[in-house]
Amino acid sequence: MTIPHMIQPNYYPRGYNVHFAEQFKKELKVPINSVGSIDIEMADRLIGEAKCDMVALVRPVIADN
Ligand SMILES: Cc1cc2nc3c(=O)[nH]c(=O)nc-3n(C[C@H](O)[C@H](O)[C@H](O)COP(=O)(O)O)c2cc1C
Repeated sequence: MTIPHMIQPNYYPRGYNVHFAEQFKKELKVPINSVGSIDIEMADRLIGEAKCDMVALVRPVIADN
């Protein structure tokens, strides 16, 4: 069942996919995006820590969750 991995339920930890971005960033020389249960403060921290180069926010932009 892949749907919970694409649109994580609220009881999943925030930044659920970030570990994938970190791995890709180590191996590839292209900009790496992460998505999934990331809020704006976390986005700032993840980019600051170079865990990814950019993030996509979907639900935080639709509603303040
Ligand atoms: C209402 C809704 C519709 C979505 N539709 C798509 C879609 O058509 N294609 C897609 O790749 N992802 C779609 N997604 C998944 C989002 O792109 C995103 O991966 C997911 O919501 C996790 O990010 P978030 O925690 O910032 O919302 C949708 C998500 C929601 C909540």
